[in-house]
Amino acid sequence: MKVFVTRVISEEGRKLMIDAGIEVEEWKEKRALSREELIAHTRDCDALLSVSTRLDKNFLLASRHLKVIALHSVGYDNVDVEAATAVKIPIGNTPGVLSGATADTAFLLMLATSRKAFYMHKSIAKGEWDFFDPTANLGIELRGKTLGVFGLGKIGLEMAKCCIGAFGMQVIYHNRNRNEIAEKELNASWVSFDELLEQSDVLTVHTALTPETRGKFDWSAFNKMKPSSIFINTARGAIHNEQDLLRALVEKKIWGAGLDVTNPEPMHPDHPLLNMPNVSVLPHIGSATEETRMAMSVLAARNIIAGLKGERIPFVVNPDVYK
Ligand code: DGY
Repeated sequence: MKVFVTRVISEEGRKLMIDAGIEVEEWKEKRALSREELIAHTRDCDALLSVSTRLDKNFLLASRHLKVIALHSVGYDNVDVEAATAVKIPIGNTPGVLSGATADTAFLLMLATSRKAFYMHKSIAKGEWDFFDPTANLGIELRGKTLGVFGLGKIGLEMAKCCIGAFGMQVIYHNRNRNEIAEKELNASWVSFDELLEQSDVLTVHTALTPETRGKFDWSAFNKMKPSSIFINTARGAIHNEQDLLRALVEKKIWGAGLDVTNPEPMHPDHPLLNMPNVSVLPHIGSATEETRMAMSVLAARNIIAGLKGERIPFVVNPDVYK
């Protein structure tokens, strides 16, 4: 049995597969594979472990011999899941293990943005730290403010806990369905989408990218937010409209923004958002800790091993494949 892995992953996951008697071929080049290269590399493989690689219908139709595809992510918006189900390939993901690290990143962006930390760091490096001006470099405080969570699932819950613990923030959220456990645990209130926009001091996005959430934070949404509010997105860049976000910041419809995800990725180095005092941008590092990347590699490996044994994979995103 052989698996093709589209990036070098943590040793733990790789070792688990090797110990299970699976031959592991890793793509070691620091560039993304084209669809044609991916098809060629997986032709003689039984499984694919996919890291940040688009798996479209054409690829899936050409690779229907694969017994399992394990994603090295919780998100699966870059896979045509319907096409995978049609060709009977189970798709696995890595839920749960990255919730803490991703929430930490959202919290970091919130705090850094509220005190303009990234911009200040850059201005010191440019030699701009001169005399002390008590009216300059002012941020805003977070104590007692309202945190609005768009998508209160595992990651949103962790972010909310951090914000309650650190700053005693009140939590409101908007989900399609009520999260009653979180409501009890956090004393959080469900609000409509418009109420979320209007009432949040910090609005943090933790939903999956779906046709319903694509472009959800556009000009009309930003226009309904408080001029003193901070927008945080650690989910997917396509959930916000970047031009509208820029305009909302320039026209002071909102106060600041912290992004771990952009649209497109990577963000162009000349992007105006990178030079705004109240904006913090990170290069999609939500899950990038030693511990979390190791745990993700292990879950992905477990999906590969089960799939190659012909067993139901433990973390399946298209359970219909087993019907
Ligand atoms: C995920 O798991 O979806 C992350 O965004 C990948 O880093």
